[in-house]
Amino acid sequence: MEGYDSPEYWEQKYQNKEHTEEWYYSYQQLKQIITPHFNKTDKVLCVGNGTSSFPVELNADFKPELIISTDISASAVEQMQKFASEKVKFVVDDALHMNLQDQFDVVFDKGCFDAISTSANRDQVISQYINEIQRVLKQGGKYIMVSYGKPYTRVGHFGKQWDTQIVQIPDKAPSGERGFAYIFQLIKQQ
Ligand SMILES: C[S@@+](CC[C@H](N)C(=O)[O-])C[C@H]1O[C@@H](n2cnc3c(N)ncnc32)[C@H](O)[C@@H]1O
Repeated sequence: MEGYDSPEYWEQKYQNKEHTEEWYYSYQQLKQIITPHFNKTDKVLCVGNGTSSFPVELNADFKPELIISTDISASAVEQMQKFASEKVKFVVDDALHMNLQDQFDVVFDKGCFDAISTSANRDQVISQYINEIQRVLKQGGKYIMVSYGKPYTRVGHFGKQWDTQIVQIPDKAPSGERGFAYIFQLIKQQ
């Protein structure tokens, strides 16, 4: 993922795009694996959502209490505003320095960890990102990451305060690979 840690790369990619775009898997491909981890009363954060229709489909199908979807690219967020409603909000926010004041039951990430982890300062940036997720998650809340990254490249970044479950996704993604859904549950704050 070259340049994928750069906000400029993403802004350029999303500028003047009119259609939604899905990385790895669609909501329909993930829903049987993911939705058992959601409750109807949940506040959900979709971090680094880009122009994925995941939050829109989650709202239409499962209907959690509130979904806030963020991205660092203003163009991506602007494009998604046409899908915004009382229950689904799209906001520009940097996942490494979140402005959000809410506390979430679930943080959902499809490809954002992967993009951020291409940084030259990989370990430092990943640690900052995980700290931010931990800060906005409620006690007992879940961080769900969908990624091609193999477990040995992911699990070691999470400390003892996280309970970890890994599910290999049955479908192949467009790349031909089979990705993973990681469910990290915050069992205690540091
Ligand atoms: C691989 S794409 C995945 C997009 C979307 N989640 C999907 O599944 O289609 C990675 C996304 O992370 C966003 N991103 C990268 N760095 C970010 C950061 N620091 N804060 C918030 N979003 C970021 C990019 O703008 C891009 O939309």
